[in-house]
Amino acid sequence: MTNLVEYQKQGSIGVITLNNPPVNALSVNKGLLQDVLDAFKEGDHDHHVRAFVIIGGGRNFSGGADISEFGKPYDPGKATLADLLAYMDTVTKPIVAAISGPTMGGGLELALTAHYRLALTGAQIGLPEVKLGILPGAGGTQRSPRLMGVEKALDLMVSGDPISSEKAKDVGLVDEVVGGDLRAAAMTYTNKLLKENLSVRRASQLTASIEQPDAFFAEARVRIGKAWRGYPAPLAIVTCVEAAVLQPFAKGLAIERQQFEKLVKSDESRALRHLFFAERQVSKIPDVPDDTPVREIKSAALIGAGTMGGGIAMNFANAGIPIKMLELNQEALDKGLGIVRKNYAATVAKGRLSQEAMDKRMGLFTGVTSYDDIKDADIVIEAVFEDLAVKKQVFAKLDKVCKPGAILATNTSTLDVNEIAAMTSRPQDVLGLHFFSPANVMKLLEVVRAKKTGKDVLATAMKLSKAIKKVGVVAGVCDGFIGNRMLHGYFREAGFLLEEGALPQQVDKVLEDFGFAMGPFRVGDLAGLDVGWYIRKRQAATRPAHLRYSKVADQVCELGRFGQKTGAGWYRYEAGNRNPIPDPIVEDLIVKASKAAGIQRRQIPDQEILERCIYALVNEGAEILAEGIALRASDIDIVYIYGYGFPRFRGGPMFYADTVGLDKVLESVKRFHAAHGEFWKPAALLEKLAAEGKKFNS
Ligand code: 3HC
Ligand code: NAI
Repeated sequence: MTNLVEYQKQGSIGVITLNNPPVNALSVNKGLLQDVLDAFKEGDHDHHVRAFVIIGGGRNFSGGADISEFGKPYDPGKATLADLLAYMDTVTKPIVAAISGPTMGGGLELALTAHYRLALTGAQIGLPEVKLGILPGAGGTQRSPRLMGVEKALDLMVSGDPISSEKAKDVGLVDEVVGGDLRAAAMTYTNKLLKENLSVRRASQLTASIEQPDAFFAEARVRIGKAWRGYPAPLAIVTCVEAAVLQPFAKGLAIERQQFEKLVKSDESRALRHLFFAERQVSKIPDVPDDTPVREIKSAALIGAGTMGGGIAMNFANAGIPIKMLELNQEALDKGLGIVRKNYAATVAKGRLSQEAMDKRMGLFTGVTSYDDIKDADIVIEAVFEDLAVKKQVFAKLDKVCKPGAILATNTSTLDVNEIAAMTSRPQDVLGLHFFSPANVMKLLEVVRAKKTGKDVLATAMKLSKAIKKVGVVAGVCDGFIGNRMLHGYFREAGFLLEEGALPQQVDKVLEDFGFAMGPFRVGDLAGLDVGWYIRKRQAATRPAHLRYSKVADQVCELGRFGQKTGAGWYRYEAGNRNPIPDPIVEDLIVKASKAAGIQRRQIPDQEILERCIYALVNEGAEILAEGIALRASDIDIVYIYGYGFPRFRGGPMFYADTVGLDKVLESVKRFHAAHGEFWKPAALLEKLAAEGKKFNS
């Protein structure tokens, strides 16, 4: 036996304890499942043992099958979860599962194969496999409908969201909920079962039924297929639950296995598993160990209560951190705080926040106009105009007034954080915190590490990002950091494609079919086209003359078409309706622009549109990786998933490129380089990895 499982006899009860921290993942190759199987066999053959308790040694029962073993060969000499559960279904002595902490996926399937279930208050119970692009593959799709009913089981598995112990008891997944010492409670419970001569009780012997199954499953397929476009697992779950209703248990189990095997090999599941580990890696910084001391953040201040300032401040208030908003004058302050109040009120009106909670959050805001009032803040975030001179002034002032040890952050999207830090006598306390708009909603936070940013400041910022419910990604200093620097090429290609023969609706459709909620032109119309126009006008003087430049976007703005807010942009919009309507005026403008640029319009294949836009991201991502602006390819994927709506089931741009094959990506990039010039110079890292047959995410 390994040390991952402990088997002890306590009186007439065989107690099996899982000891595989941190989450008791049910590993095949480490021998954990074999050990559990052996323990059951030992107890089964021991006439002194009359019942079993299975329990988690740490905080939780089990986080499920070991995800890191998926897609790799299993040791044929070791038991799998299916082997274990098949054996458990033959055991004739009562088995009690004692559930605590997270009990997920295969962990819950193990518990559902036990005959009785006891859960500790506060345990989180679920079948989240769908979030990994798979389905419960160890009988979960067959046992859960038999125990909790077809509809509820379908909801549990398709949403993947956990439920509490109490809810699990209400729906019949759990027999008892207990507080305090779970192990002691499980022993008392099992002894009572024995005293009352209660025997085995197998979920596999129950039936799952629903009225009018044909109509029920037909409706479920339509509803779930629509809600989960691009994700095959939810519909496969429907198929398995239908089998639970219509087929005998063994047949249902076989169908579940077949579906599981298919899904686990799919690109979607690979992508979602990649993101599972990427999300957990992203907070790890190689030269900043986990035990780096962090600074306490109990109060915050925001400079500038504009579009970003208000949204950023809301994150702090939502996390219960008092926040001071500093503005140029009372009028700007009132306006900014008014918008914050309006935002909260809208959430209250939708029933997603109570009035009391809103009042509490608003109570954490203090509006100020003097720097003296923010001198005690633990962190100050600057969100004033995007103008280096103004930002430098602000940081020089902050340096004078802020208490020693305060963290000074800038929300700049394009300016040099090193230059801003140099305005202070404490550059080690300065970093970029680049929020995304709307800052109270978007999950991404680029944590910009400047040359002199202290390790403790970085560690504090990463911890803070979790506290305010953001996904923090470390980025180095460069124009646009990770996300916007890459995005530049994506929009550039979308614009060039118009000049070459495409129309906005074609480009948008290709990217929407790929999985984006909106293509680049619809995004532009939603965000407003004027902001980019002003930036381009500012950059015009320094733009190298030899580089290709498409004037189409500027010409759309020159017509006063700034997107949805003006009722027209790349598309036109009818009053009160956000549906984009292709507009002949724009088409005419595009055709004329092609002519003026001397470009013969052609029919552009959808595949070219996709590759031009997505590989522009990938090629720049490779440069960013090589320069160390991003720590790892998976961090870039996280930036795109959380900040730019890249479809999760594609795993992010770098993972997507890995899926296509870097040799194929490089081939296209080279073709574009030959046809369209220097924007497409292949990144050296892409060339190297492709030559070595490697991937970005190894
Ligand atoms: N397999 C392998 N590793 C796992 C794992 C799993 N099922 N669950 C968690 N881990 C690892 C994480 O990668 C992380 O590793 P790291 O420290 O090296 O980064 C570590 O355990 C701790 O994980 P978290 O940071 O997520 O810990 P939390 O305490 O925040 O959350 C949890 C615990 C709720 C269990 C969460 O980890 C989780 O949701 N895990 C995945 C649950 C899941 O999807 N289970 C289904 C697996 S598939 C399955 O069971 C198939 C079956 O149907 C056949
Ligand atoms: P904004 O123009 O809406 O707000 C700026 C606010 O700062 C105004 O209310 C102004 O009165 C105030 N302000 C200006 N100078 C000040 C000073 N010296 N002291 C105190 N207050 C001052 O601008 P927005 O869009 O909120 O942008 C702010 C910063 O956030 C910029 O650096 C921008 O690049 C960055 N950013 C913007 C994003 C966006 O989508 N709008 C996204 C990510 C970052």
